[in-house]
Amino acid sequence: MPAFQTSPGMRDILPPESERWRRFTDIFADTVERAGYGELISPLLEDLGVFTRIGDATDVVTKEMYDFIDKGDRHIALRPEVTASVCRSFAQHRPTTPWKVFYSGPNFRYERPQRGRYRQFEQVGIEVLGVDDPLLDVEVIALAWEFYARLGLRQVNLIINSLGEPDDRARYVEALRAHFDQAGSALSEQSRSTLIRNPLRVLDSKREPDQRFIESAPQIADFHSPEAAEHFESVCAGMSALHIPFEVEPKLVRGLDYYRRTIFEFQGETLNSAQNALGGGGRYDGLVEALGGPSTPGIGFALGVDRTLLACDDEGVFGPEPTELDAFVVDVTGGLHATEITADLRGAGLAADRGYDNRSMKAQMKLANRSGAQFAVIIGDDEVSAGTAVVKPLRTDDEQITIARSDLIAHFSQDTTTGTDSS
Ligand code: HAM
Repeated sequence: MPAFQTSPGMRDILPPESERWRRFTDIFADTVERAGYGELISPLLEDLGVFTRIGDATDVVTKEMYDFIDKGDRHIALRPEVTASVCRSFAQHRPTTPWKVFYSGPNFRYERPQRGRYRQFEQVGIEVLGVDDPLLDVEVIALAWEFYARLGLRQVNLIINSLGEPDDRARYVEALRAHFDQAGSALSEQSRSTLIRNPLRVLDSKREPDQRFIESAPQIADFHSPEAAEHFESVCAGMSALHIPFEVEPKLVRGLDYYRRTIFEFQGETLNSAQNALGGGGRYDGLVEALGGPSTPGIGFALGVDRTLLACDDEGVFGPEPTELDAFVVDVTGGLHATEITADLRGAGLAADRGYDNRSMKAQMKLANRSGAQFAVIIGDDEVSAGTAVVKPLRTDDEQITIARSDLIAHFSQDTTTGTDSS
């Protein structure tokens, strides 16, 4: 056992697995850039206060924050999510609205690690600030949907709900509190403690004793103001117009406190229910203000890369596609020829690797075969004297050919079957 290993909940993503992480982010960027979103690159560290604005009834803030005092006596934290940073950035720079941004990168939450739940995890996401229109909610949700389709994921369910305007939400929370209070000690011990901090989250409980009280709990829709109800109806109508299947789930509340009005979650059918949220988002109309900016509506989502890739594995889609090598250069004359040839091949846009340490022909050919390259380019003393190179197919039974060194690049760049001579 080596002296050091990754800390609990932190992972190394090795090649070739890492290839699809980058491609995931590239496809996401392509999807949202085509819809007018630009990338915001914000720091991984912020003043702790930026994240406490997420809400003090949120586990992310109260239990899971990676925070510390830095050498300048500032209380700072590793970001547990990006929405608060985006709103801080908006309040700081005051860009013109609508401000449509996307992001990708790691987040940190001190959670109990398990499959699909890590202490460092990656998200991609978008946020739009300055637009109240319910049809923006539709655009935002539809972009996530389009992205899942581009990954090839099919077993994803979209559930949506509305938490109403802040006043509606506040009245609903009080009604829930009264309802669950009546249950008294019949409620599970954990839910009783959740009830004190955040009655909404009791609706998330999967514990058996809580279920009948959750079933009979008041419904948020009965608390919607006419404006909130109209906004939500427009969102649902827009989703239907785009033929995106969704379900209204009155018990969906989401884990972060800043949400108002529309909220939504994408759930993977193949994952265990505790970790089946592949991504989620919603409106957070008061957050910019809470961070010292002007009153500004906001909406966005974040998708968990780790979990989405687990769902891809379960469905057998979006696997790693490591770059295929065109050539592997085997040089048994000391290695300098391999240095020149690989540099030329790479310079011509080809993918080339080589053997090192002047190892034997047998050892280098073993590496060439293991590399998955299409061809080995072989240089021995005879080829050096004749100014040639041997090109040996590694994936087919075709004959190897000997060609002039000066024709090598053209041979690989154009037609790999033409040679000057065969041997
Ligand atoms: P969230 O629901 O906390 O929302 O996280 C979004 C996604 O990040 C989850 O659905 C999940 O896939 C992934 N995720 C969260 N925690 C972990 C973890 N410990 N390990 C692995 N994956 C995890 C937000 O973060 C909001 N900022 C979303 C948002 C954007 N709302 C509005 N705009």
